[in-house]
Amino acid sequence: MPNTEIISVTTGTTESEQQSLHRAANCIRAGGLVVFPTETVYGLGGNALDAEAARKIYAAKGRPSDNPLIIHIADVDWAEAYCHTTALFYRLATAFWPGPLTMILPKRDCIPSSVTGGLDTVAVRLPSDPIANALIRLSGVPIAAPSANLSGHPSPTTKEHVIGDLSERVDMILAGEPSEIGLESTVIKLDGDDVIILRPGGITYEDLCALLGEEHVRIDRIVTEKVTGEFKPLSPGMKYRHYAPNAAVVLLHGTEAQITSFLQSHRGDPDVGFLVYEEEYETLPASRTLHMGRRDDPAMQAHRLFSCLRQFDEIPRIKTVFARIPSREGIGLAVYNRLAKAAGFTVLDLSDTDAVSAIPTFSVLGLTGGSGAGKGAVAATLTAHGIPTLDTDRVSRLVCEVGQPCLRALAEQFGDGILCPDGSLDRAGLAALVFGESDPDKKAEKLAALNRITHHYILEYARDWLAEQRAAGCTAACIDAPQLFESGFDRECSYIIGVTADKETRIARIMTRDGITREKAEQRIASQHDDAFFAAHCNTIIENNGDLDALDAAVRQLLADGVFRR
Ligand code: TXA
Ligand code: MG
Repeated sequence: MPNTEIISVTTGTTESEQQSLHRAANCIRAGGLVVFPTETVYGLGGNALDAEAARKIYAAKGRPSDNPLIIHIADVDWAEAYCHTTALFYRLATAFWPGPLTMILPKRDCIPSSVTGGLDTVAVRLPSDPIANALIRLSGVPIAAPSANLSGHPSPTTKEHVIGDLSERVDMILAGEPSEIGLESTVIKLDGDDVIILRPGGITYEDLCALLGEEHVRIDRIVTEKVTGEFKPLSPGMKYRHYAPNAAVVLLHGTEAQITSFLQSHRGDPDVGFLVYEEEYETLPASRTLHMGRRDDPAMQAHRLFSCLRQFDEIPRIKTVFARIPSREGIGLAVYNRLAKAAGFTVLDLSDTDAVSAIPTFSVLGLTGGSGAGKGAVAATLTAHGIPTLDTDRVSRLVCEVGQPCLRALAEQFGDGILCPDGSLDRAGLAALVFGESDPDKKAEKLAALNRITHHYILEYARDWLAEQRAAGCTAACIDAPQLFESGFDRECSYIIGVTADKETRIARIMTRDGITREKAEQRIASQHDDAFFAAHCNTIIENNGDLDALDAAVRQLLADGVFRR
């Protein structure tokens, strides 16, 4: 295994970057492997005229050697030496090179068959990225380069992806900016006066039609369909299982209203992740939702897709990712193609009511309200009706016990002064540190840090708990959280119940429970959200002035209305 040298590059124009590029070019000429940025994705390069370098590329990627490589050149006039060019080739090159277009032509003998996976054609591309161009030019040889990911991972669009995948497997990594386009080049096969798109990318179907006329451009069915069985694809790479996150990806097909309602009805499920547009990101759980960019911005969707797919594997618990089907226009076709492949072309038709109702749902009820409103009694009533409830006040104590990561994070933020001699949390000390701060800006900062840390650990606990309830066969569970909105957990709830009570009732309850004066109880109420806030932000309000029969009736009514399943 080589010792990988990682070199930062930006424009390639400074003297030290020039020196690095020379060394990288020498490495290529000597038969070594160099990862370099391109405008599409990062490439894993070796000398395309050297059969042994090709073998090393396949080994480093863990890729089957019948999947041919693209050779990258530094100038159009290099092409003639490596393939049999045509007038159509030069027309396309003039229009789209340098850029994200790969052309397949009959190869010349100097290209080893190990580079082309035994085919008598070769794929050629002239990238526009200045680092890529300088590296190829300085090497003086075409560079064979597949995407610089381990086989089975999505193509890398950042240096972090590359370093994670290929450290110790290549000689050098030229670590530059995130890839501008983010999806691999358009691959076309030249066939007489026609071109066939084998893989859509940054040079779009529309671009090719504008140049050649619609009648001369075809899209291979492998781009939009799941092809199985005996079919022998024109592009060997398209037959391999494409990267998919560990969770199953399911594409949602339906009207706008059907999709929105489906997404919302599944947002409480801790097993479910969402890949949606930026516009709707705020309406779904931040902890399990990623967005590809705005609905009408396919270029951004292309740029973000592979990073999103990689990120889903870092989200705990999720087993299914429900994804929007992006528009197929322009580069959208490439986004659609990569996403559909990640989904194994699995599409859920939302007008098929049987299919939709066969998908289990899990309702998460949020229960919130101010001090003394009597949330506890509502929680007990829900429990009595078979809906398990988690009290986050209790969780906030659990996560701060000795040895818990939340306590360590608090000590890191606020210093060991917040710990008692036995290592446990000095709650009064911490409160004094945060709330006793006289500078209002600093106080706000400290409070924000305290909430950021505690909310994070409380929510993680709650999500684990919900996943347990779901695994145990429950179809609904309730999170009782005074800070439901402040913590952002409202976005993970299917339905939110706000509990209110008359002010006098609340004051009396707080005074009895906490043994404090009327004045202090009034202050506490004044510092919290008022009834209007809860009315505006909750799905329903339950007034709890102490009549338990009325409470029971209110909960029964909610169950009868079917607002959440049990
Ligand atoms: O954007 C890109 O094209 C990136 C950067 C690094 O340039 N490279 C890239 O290479 O995506 P790779 O190896 O991951 O994908 C090459 C695709 C494969 O699907 C392969 O089957 C197809 O091109 N291909 C290569 N040579 C071919 C040939 N002679 N006939 C048909 N398909 C070919
Ligand atoms: Mg690839």
